Amino acid sequence: MNRTAWMKAMTMVGAVTIGFGFAGCGGGEGGGEGPVVAPPPPPAEYADKHMPAGWWADDKIVEEGRQLYIGAKNPDVNCASCHGKDGKPVKAGARDFRNTERMKLYSDSVWFWRISEGVPNTKMKPWKSKLSEEDRWKLVAFERTWGLKGQEWDGAKKAWVPVGSAGAAAPAPAEAPAPAAGGAAAPAAPAAPAAGGK
Ligand code: HEC
Repeated sequence: MNRTAWMKAMTMVGAVTIGFGFAGCGGGEGGGEGPVVAPPPPPAEYADKHMPAGWWADDKIVEEGRQLYIGAKNPDVNCASCHGKDGKPVKAGARDFRNTERMKLYSDSVWFWRISEGVPNTKMKPWKSKLSEEDRWKLVAFERTWGLKGQEWDGAKKAWVPVGSAGAAAPAPAEAPAPAAGGAAAPAAPAAPAAGGK
């Protein structure tokens, strides 16, 4: 082949190689997790679901969530088999719960919704038939101990804040049975022992 034809051929090989090179680098370094983007909003029936009062700060709840997560309570439910015991995914594509940048984009309702209904067309199945609502919330409480350690979701600010500070600036009018005026500094009554331990 003459010199010009050879050059053309090599140029094409080069172009193709470069093309593939670019195509291959879409995902960032998230270990196959894909780019960090905000999740869709939860559907209406999940939008108003939130962590039960006091659970973010309750170590017992978090431990129960851990037992569920590792399959100790029910071997049919073993989140760790994909997401990893230490939050580092062991199956490609499973969310990395240590990734603060991603996890902080999810509200408590979104996490709860995804655990309940799964993510269509992925290995993340719906779990609501195997887990009570309470168990799903325990899992949310546990999962956040990696990327969002010590944080809780503040529904008013729509952000993760240190445990205990949610709603501090903007008292929720509807919920807390407002103590008498000037209650801002009212000593938090010792967490009412749920009679009988439930
Ligand atoms: C068979 C593997 C597998 C198991 C078991 C599994 N997951 Fe997942 N999970 C995935 C994958 C894959 C994704 C990523 C889905 C996607 O691409 O959005 C995911 C995503 C998630 C997300 C984030 C959803 C989102 O919108 O990004 C949460 C929260 C989650 N899993 C919690 C759990 C919990 C809790 C359990 C146990 C009850 C569990 N997973 C069990 C594979 C699994």
